[in-house]
Amino acid sequence: MKGLRDKVAVVTGGGGGIGAAICRRFAEEDTVVAVLDLDGEAADRVAGEIHAAGGKAKAYPVDLTVQEQVQATVAALEQDLGPIDVLVNNAGWDRAAPFLETDKALWDKIVAVNLYGPLYMHHAVLSRMAARGKGRVVNISSDAARVGSSGESVYAFCKGGLVAFSKTIARELARQKINVNVVCPGPTDTALFRDFAGEGERGEKLRAALIKAIPFGRLGEPEDVAGIVVFLASDEAAFITGQVISVSGGLTMAG
Ligand SMILES: NC(=O)c1ccc[n+]([C@@H]2O[C@H](COP(=O)([O-])OP(=O)(O)OC[C@H]3O[C@@H](n4cnc5c(N)ncnc54)[C@H](O)[C@@H]3O)[C@@H](O)[C@H]2O)c1
Repeated sequence: MKGLRDKVAVVTGGGGGIGAAICRRFAEEDTVVAVLDLDGEAADRVAGEIHAAGGKAKAYPVDLTVQEQVQATVAALEQDLGPIDVLVNNAGWDRAAPFLETDKALWDKIVAVNLYGPLYMHHAVLSRMAARGKGRVVNISSDAARVGSSGESVYAFCKGGLVAFSKTIARELARQKINVNVVCPGPTDTALFRDFAGEGERGEKLRAALIKAIPFGRLGEPEDVAGIVVFLASDEAAFITGQVISVSGGLTMAG
């Protein structure tokens, strides 16, 4: 894809299922990848795999819910790798439960990771991109934001907020030539999904029901999501901003 060679892309949650696939896909385009994750070992592993395959990557352990850590990490990685061209806000977390059985401690954790994390990242990175008059942002939301998802009310609250925020800053920063788009995965086979589905018979039943409901007849794989993210970060997507696209095997087809 055009315009990705030697660019610097930051991927949050780069040590996890979808994030690691996004990092690997960027590396295939000769993009330099900053792999950010709370799980420093997972981030190291992904950066190591990219190095072993001949690509360029560096791991940064960071808790995105702490603004000072985000600011320090963004400053350090620009020192190490150069100006950030692409920001992918991919890190996310949830614990499934019916809303009426949840409490504020759980809401706070879900909001901290899924809303404040992306806010801190946007604030730290976009001021730099705006000063340079260029940049690409791809935010990983969820189909839970578009069509709802039982057991994921507060997560959906955050992911819906991320969609609204993305469209707003896409407008605010268009004159600075910053594109902001959103990708909404459907059920995708990662640790997060396995946590959501649960263990044992209950998990197997939910997985089977979803596979039956998905028109393509299978769950998503992390690699299914990576291509559109890299496309939206490339020069092929230079005139696309403020858009939301689902990657769900056809499970949702709302406009
Ligand atoms: N898997 C799905 O079915 C699905 C569906 C819709 C949307 N999504 C979204 O896709 C994105 C990636 O999810 P995944 O399925 O790959 O999950 P995952 O659990 O495999 O990976 C998430 C990564 O985010 C990291 N992370 C969590 N909290 C963090 C924090 N405070 N600071 C830094 N890193 C942190 C984790 O360590 C992990 O490596 C998330 O935003 C998720 O909400 C996933």
